[in-house]
Amino acid sequence: MTIKIAVIGFGNIAKAIITPLLDKNLISPEDIYCLVNSKQSLEKIKKNYKYDVNIFQSDSKEINLIWDCQVKLLSVKPQQLKEVNELDNHKKNENLLVSILAGVSLDKLTQKFPNHRCVRVVTNIPITVGKGLTGIAWGEDISDDQKEFTKKLFKNSSKIYEFTEDSLDTFLALTSSGPAIIALIIEALSDGGLSGGLQKKLSEELVMDMILGTITLIKQNNLTTADIKNMVASPGGTTIAALRVLEQKNLRSALIESIVSASNRSKEFR
Ligand SMILES: NC(=O)c1ccc[n+]([C@@H]2O[C@H](COP(=O)([O-])OP(=O)(O)OC[C@H]3O[C@@H](n4cnc5c(N)ncnc54)[C@H](OP(=O)(O)O)[C@@H]3O)[C@@H](O)[C@H]2O)c1
Repeated sequence: MTIKIAVIGFGNIAKAIITPLLDKNLISPEDIYCLVNSKQSLEKIKKNYKYDVNIFQSDSKEINLIWDCQVKLLSVKPQQLKEVNELDNHKKNENLLVSILAGVSLDKLTQKFPNHRCVRVVTNIPITVGKGLTGIAWGEDISDDQKEFTKKLFKNSSKIYEFTEDSLDTFLALTSSGPAIIALIIEALSDGGLSGGLQKKLSEELVMDMILGTITLIKQNNLTTADIKNMVASPGGTTIAALRVLEQKNLRSALIESIVSASNRSKEFR
């Protein structure tokens, strides 16, 4: 039996999840039923999206076609969730709802979608270039087939990890807030280069290539972060002078606390 997928909110992240599946012929465009809010988005997708998926506006008379699909990928913004209302003409066992909404708990999802079995997923912005990290917390009574199907949705655009919902908050802090933290670090280091007289653009490129090179070195040779420090810092040299400043300014503690704080904030949203 072909599984039909409804995408409730066909925005940036949903496209990043669905497009690789279409690219690899793992699903057919005719089995995808997308929902957007505005006429403008509807027309833009009809005109520009490279696949001829079924697409509807949220006030469409054909909204039942969305709720008829066995699988729903819920991908509106959290503040738009109140506008999404389940049609209750279905059997719970057959309906799977996979939510990627930041900060919306499994409890909230099951209350709002009582005719669905719910799964909460946290993914991150690099999913838009096929390099995402996806954490999954299963709701109650999810069948093995439904688990497999959920993983199939994400595994072409991300690495998948399974968690309890509690650990999902820390996963979110590290992986979803992480890109902004790394961007800040790149920017700050580049400003260091700028202060030393390098052009901003060159400085930024040097920093990004240095980060990529360091990660490759660690991964290819199975090194630890301590190994890198020992390889680079020589007695009385430049690196230990730099590290000393970072210790004085408590950078390590600031980074640890940033993750703890993001994780706590995520718990508050639940
Ligand atoms: N951005 C990130 O870094 C990131 C990373 C991981 C996960 N997430 C999660 O992914 C979700 C989507 O984020 P996004 O960046 O992809 O947002 P987005 O690009 O703004 O997409 C939201 C989509 O939902 C549609 N929509 C709005 N109200 C609707 C309604 N009542 N019924 C049906 N569709 C509706 C919008 O249509 P219109 O265009 O017509 O308004 C749009 O297509 C969020 O919940 C976020 O927490 C985001």
